[in-house]
Amino acid sequence: MCGIVGYVGEREALPIILKSLKRIEYRGYDSCGILVQDNGKMHVYKSVESIDYLKANLSESEYDGKIGIGHTRWATHGAPSKKNAHPHLDCKGEIAVVHNGIIENYQSIKDGFLSNCAFKSETDTEVIPHLIHQTFGKFDQNASQQTFGKFDQNASQIKEAVKEALSRLNGSYAIIVAVEGFDGLIAARKESPLVIGVGDRENFIASDVPAVLEQTNRIIYLEEGDIAIVKRDSIYIENSGSEVKREETLIEWTIEDAEKGGYEHFMLKEIHEEPKAIIDTLRGYLAEDEINFGVDFKIEGDAKGKSILMVACGTSYYAALCGKHIIENLAKVPVQVELASEFNYSDFVLDGTNVMVMAITQSGETADTMMALKKAKRYGCKTVAITNVLGSSATRTADETIYIRAGPEIGVAATKSFIAQLVIFYLLGLFLAKMPESEFLEHLEELKRMPQIAMMVLDEEDITIQKHARYLSKYEHAFFVGRGVNLAISLEGALKLKEISYIHAEGYAAGELKHGPFALLTKDTPVIAILTRDNIYEKTLGNVKEIKARGSPVIAIAEEGDEEVEKYVDEVIRVPKTGAIFSPIPNTVALHLLAYWTAKERECEIDKPRNLAKSVTVE
Ligand code: AGP
Repeated sequence: MCGIVGYVGEREALPIILKSLKRIEYRGYDSCGILVQDNGKMHVYKSVESIDYLKANLSESEYDGKIGIGHTRWATHGAPSKKNAHPHLDCKGEIAVVHNGIIENYQSIKDGFLSNCAFKSETDTEVIPHLIHQTFGKFDQNASQQTFGKFDQNASQIKEAVKEALSRLNGSYAIIVAVEGFDGLIAARKESPLVIGVGDRENFIASDVPAVLEQTNRIIYLEEGDIAIVKRDSIYIENSGSEVKREETLIEWTIEDAEKGGYEHFMLKEIHEEPKAIIDTLRGYLAEDEINFGVDFKIEGDAKGKSILMVACGTSYYAALCGKHIIENLAKVPVQVELASEFNYSDFVLDGTNVMVMAITQSGETADTMMALKKAKRYGCKTVAITNVLGSSATRTADETIYIRAGPEIGVAATKSFIAQLVIFYLLGLFLAKMPESEFLEHLEELKRMPQIAMMVLDEEDITIQKHARYLSKYEHAFFVGRGVNLAISLEGALKLKEISYIHAEGYAAGELKHGPFALLTKDTPVIAILTRDNIYEKTLGNVKEIKARGSPVIAIAEEGDEEVEKYVDEVIRVPKTGAIFSPIPNTVALHLLAYWTAKERECEIDKPRNLAKSVTVE
């Protein structure tokens, strides 16, 4: 996700802004920019280079000023480029905005209210400074010569103009606004976090605590709907038209702790971001019950000889396996899934005219997956990359790209990106489906419940998940079993556990264990069984009874209210009940937490497991 920072005080702003941006580099970015203003002159610099490059190439003499804003961009609308980097300004260059979030209705604003404006970028953000300027009209050109009192009067007018502009936006934002000749900054937030760092005759604004912790540990967390006027010696905060007082919090974290938002590991932070990843991914393609990928899919819902082939590796491969079940269940379009590393050297029969090949890759850089993508193109297939990283190799190779909007994933073990991949498959399945409108809307309503469902699983973390993790952490071998759409989730649960706890874990079709692996079942091989009450529940329960008969402990992932299961297993991790096809979401959140807390119990490295890399760019 993007990062925004601001400074207003008595020191030169440039070095402080650059230092703050450096502190939020961990959030991931593909471009950056700064604005410094002094006595009415606005200096802007944008780059696709790194923060270090800016530090080496910008001089305080050229970028002088005691008010500044900065931005690291994680591209969502418009590829990484200088013109798409923030800050964005209005036509007159009097108003500058840095933004973190997604404006859903930016196109209709550009086509309507701002149709007379000249836009320089492809971003959603750029509508904000234009809206503020349109709303406020022309600023008083002499404002910079006014007495301090005039600025106050300006401050209120500017704040009102910003509020009016924001009222037109749908979506999420944390913004900082700089105005030529104005001796302060305006900050506002809706769904995206924003904090104010309180200093001595200086104040700081940032997306996240790490950006300001070097300067001050006095933090004000802006709340939903807050808008603030921040000057060097005053902070005014308003919500719903009335002034509000927000308490200062004294932060005791180290900077490294702060980068993890107070979580001990990035992986745990990212598991807790899974509800937001669902929200942001849905927001990218779903508006007013309409699904639009901005990609022309020429696949008829009832197949007509058309089919989808997915190629992927690791966790993305398991997401694809789950996606197969989801799309075939919802859209009846045939989906084949191949390991990229196998597909690349197989004599796979590929008819380019009838197969759409989808490369599922969080990083967009996995060598095996990239090779498979290029092979598909050689066969004349239409290719789509489903990835988390704008500007990645996969996006430059595939004919089309669909972005999961999980935000930067720092932990080597994929978590929120897997959940976001599943969300894309639900949307794709519904997009391709030929079903009655009422059934479509019913599924859509269930999909919109998923952030809340994921939250409910996270709420169980302390009570049950950690207890079962302590139980599981004593073992060196484990099996994960499931059926149907949850077979892939069993495979993913096993991978997550083995990756970070170093327990040898295998995922298996529940019906397959008796065909050999039963030989390994002892009291020392616990089995984690996904027992969603779907149309094959009885079969899976039968498998569990067989497993129990061989003396292995069984931990069930089962729905709230299923009392039956208690009779046949040793432990139960409860998850909220959903439609069977949606059960992978709560089941995955539970298994991600189980893997994390088991590894924690075993005092493993977790964020950087031995021998692994976040992106495997070699075959
Ligand atoms: C997942 O936890 C692993 N880090 C690994 O299996 C990963 O999913 C795989 O390397 C594929 O990566 P990609 O999604 O970036 O292509």
